[in-house]
Amino acid sequence: MDRKITVDHVYFKYADDSPDVLRDVSLTIKDGEWVTILGPNGSGKSTLARLFNALILPDRGAVTSLGIDTADEKHWPALRRQVGMVFQNPDNQLVAPTVADDVAFGLENAGIPLEEMKTRVKESIATFGLSGLENAEPHRLSGGQKQRVAIAGVMALAPDVIIFDEATSMLDPEGKREVWAAMDKLRKDQAITLISITHDVSEAVKADRVIVMHEGGILKEGTPASVLGDQEVMHTAKLKPPFPQTVAAELLKAGIDVPESILTEEELIKALWTSM
Ligand SMILES: Nc1ncnc2c1ncn2[C@@H]1O[C@H](COP(=O)(O)OP(=O)(O)OP(=O)(O)O)[C@@H](O)[C@H]1O
Ligand SMILES: [Mg+2]
Repeated sequence: MDRKITVDHVYFKYADDSPDVLRDVSLTIKDGEWVTILGPNGSGKSTLARLFNALILPDRGAVTSLGIDTADEKHWPALRRQVGMVFQNPDNQLVAPTVADDVAFGLENAGIPLEEMKTRVKESIATFGLSGLENAEPHRLSGGQKQRVAIAGVMALAPDVIIFDEATSMLDPEGKREVWAAMDKLRKDQAITLISITHDVSEAVKADRVIVMHEGGILKEGTPASVLGDQEVMHTAKLKPPFPQTVAAELLKAGIDVPESILTEEELIKALWTSM
């Protein structure tokens, strides 16, 4: 099966008398790729993501997701299982009285047989470090734990693609770390396509590719280094460079020889060791 996502010259607006929210957007997301989508408020990031599982359809142009034209209504239930989403507010995503019931919720809706459901729930709970919390009430958990319950529920459906739409933005630093660790795990253990939408550039440095949205179009796409190193793009999209990059720029100004391309703390520490 063709598992890529292709957006071909898409235009979209929410109402006939409102402006285009997406304007001539074209992109391809490859099977197994980790793509981060950055951009200011209202630039169209969430709207773009809603095209991928047919939550919305283009006004003009076409979207093919996992080999399926999203305009084809009969594939919508399958597409929504195969392209899972995790949203910003964990409280809005948890629906059941216990963690285990919550993780089982999507499986139940998909009509998965009981024995298989139990196995998948158990596995998904273990994968995201929630063992022992099966009977806990979701609203009593920390933000990071809640988001991991939401991720476990999506992943129990064995999707081909998972989209994180600002899934860490309401979390404290510990919660952010927990969810980032879950993303890393997804990428290591499974051949999943990961799309993360964020304002936080430090989340983009590990991605295979970064796409910057601006006023409904793609401003720039490329490797994290090429995008985050482009001062003009970063300025236009109101993005703050990753902290290690700022430090490296200051060090260079002070005459300390470190590479300009530094994005992560690890790279910065290594460069400092070798420059001494
Ligand atoms: N359900 C909706 N109905 C009408 N207009 C909408 C709807 N959702 C978004 N919009 C509008 O579409 C534009 C793009 O919004 P979108 O949510 O895609 O941006 P975003 O890049 O995800 O922003 P944010 O960073 O704030 O989440 C904005 O002008 C927004 O007001
Ligand atoms: Mg959004």
